[in-house]
Amino acid sequence: MMDRRSFLGRSLAATGGTLLACREMGQADSASSQPVPGTISEAEIANAKFPEGFLWGMATASYQVEGAWNEDGKGESIWDRWTHTVGKIRGAGTGDVACDHYHLYPQDIAILKRLDQKSYRFSISWARIQPTGRGAVNHKGIDHYKRVMDALLEAGIRPFCTLYHWDLPQGLEDLGGWPNRDLAGYYADYAGILAKHLGDQIQVWAPFNMPWTFTNLGYGTGVFPPGRASYTDFLKAAHTVNLAQGEAFRSIKAASSKATVGSAYGMSPAYPATDREADKSAAARYNAMNNLYFLETAMHGKYPNAFVGGVPYEAMGFRAGDDKIMQVPLDWIGFHYYSRRFVSASAASAHGGGSLATETQDTGAAGNDLTQFTSVMPTQGPITDGGLEIWPRGIYDLVMQISRAYNNPIIEITESGCGYLDTPYDRDGGRVPDTRRIEFFRSELAELARAIADGARVRSFHAWSALDNFEWNDGYTQRYGLTYVDYRDQKRTVKDSGMWYGRVAAANRLVI
Ligand code: FCB
Repeated sequence: MMDRRSFLGRSLAATGGTLLACREMGQADSASSQPVPGTISEAEIANAKFPEGFLWGMATASYQVEGAWNEDGKGESIWDRWTHTVGKIRGAGTGDVACDHYHLYPQDIAILKRLDQKSYRFSISWARIQPTGRGAVNHKGIDHYKRVMDALLEAGIRPFCTLYHWDLPQGLEDLGGWPNRDLAGYYADYAGILAKHLGDQIQVWAPFNMPWTFTNLGYGTGVFPPGRASYTDFLKAAHTVNLAQGEAFRSIKAASSKATVGSAYGMSPAYPATDREADKSAAARYNAMNNLYFLETAMHGKYPNAFVGGVPYEAMGFRAGDDKIMQVPLDWIGFHYYSRRFVSASAASAHGGGSLATETQDTGAAGNDLTQFTSVMPTQGPITDGGLEIWPRGIYDLVMQISRAYNNPIIEITESGCGYLDTPYDRDGGRVPDTRRIEFFRSELAELARAIADGARVRSFHAWSALDNFEWNDGYTQRYGLTYVDYRDQKRTVKDSGMWYGRVAAANRLVI
């Protein structure tokens, strides 16, 4: 493994630290001794090494798995309101029952244990803790999560808590939602409540899942709840979330001395579509907006320059002193990887494909006149049933980019996975032979191991997802789980990929 000094030496040599090679350069790479981008050899897979104590894990999110939408005093969330509105969700799916994880968590945690998992990333539903997002604590909600934490700790699994995976209490949306700056304070109170009551059991906290996605899709393009479409609202919402992230960091640390706080950002490595200067700077703007908009603010207290004409402070409602509120040196950096983007300069707006999958929606038109880039998900690699291109090399590029740009931080891979619709096969004992998912993880994890061998300090990988679940606007038409869920009777069947991933976790290497 490369030592820290040679890693940093290489970092200094990297141009600008954040720009990825352009699309043509990436391809030229394949002619040299480097592996062909997007593919990796069987020998590399067999030899892939992970550090001792590497945390193999799986992830879920409250609204996507819990169900029990109005039990034990839980308030309504914006996702409850959205899914109960006719026409919003494919197949008219809702999270009312979902995987019934709220009641079935003991059996789900037993599966995680059987598969040798060492980390479980889940999220807490704010509306279970404070039904309208403010005021008195609903102790039934706290008690529920205490029981879940007991079960995890008992199974030897690290609880990794995301405080917010998109299910804002409707009561706070009624006050104006994230564009209302007051939400930063309410959120800090909520974070403090969680740390106070659950801080003995949870030490690893990530304030927001994919903040760019829920602010942009919720307020900029209106594809997600609350369904507002105003670029100024997006800018304001994103700024409140940046303030909230800083405030929450402080309130968690104040309530729990054991706490470490990081992130769960969505990131896509961005490659300039050509080596034209205009496309290179467009790719840098994409990176600033879609990858670093909530990271740079935490680490350095300033917005990365995602805009052609400079940061629009006035429109976002920036006040003197906000830089100090936002700046909180994260203890580790967590991000997801699903797919990559080719980016070009463009004054006109551009939309991505027709899929409703969250990962393919980030080319929405909002703000295009300010950011002036067009991004597309390429289709050179195989496409999953979920509509995403598979490009294993992307995780290597992303991990190395973040390692260089932020002085080789501890990294947690908070999500990665693929949607395939394989079902139990009764002629084969009811197994779910999802070989494409195994192939996906084999190549991607070998690329991750390559980044680790090159000096990146990655300490965990969370496969999305522990269970098939409610996939936002796509409802139940996508299956990302390593365990199959039959929604008619809630029967769980661990897929072949889950069995394989369990063997990988036990062996700490990529077994055949
Ligand atoms: C990510 C989300 C997660 C799930 C996967 C497929 O963007 O964080 O909730 O929807 O995509």
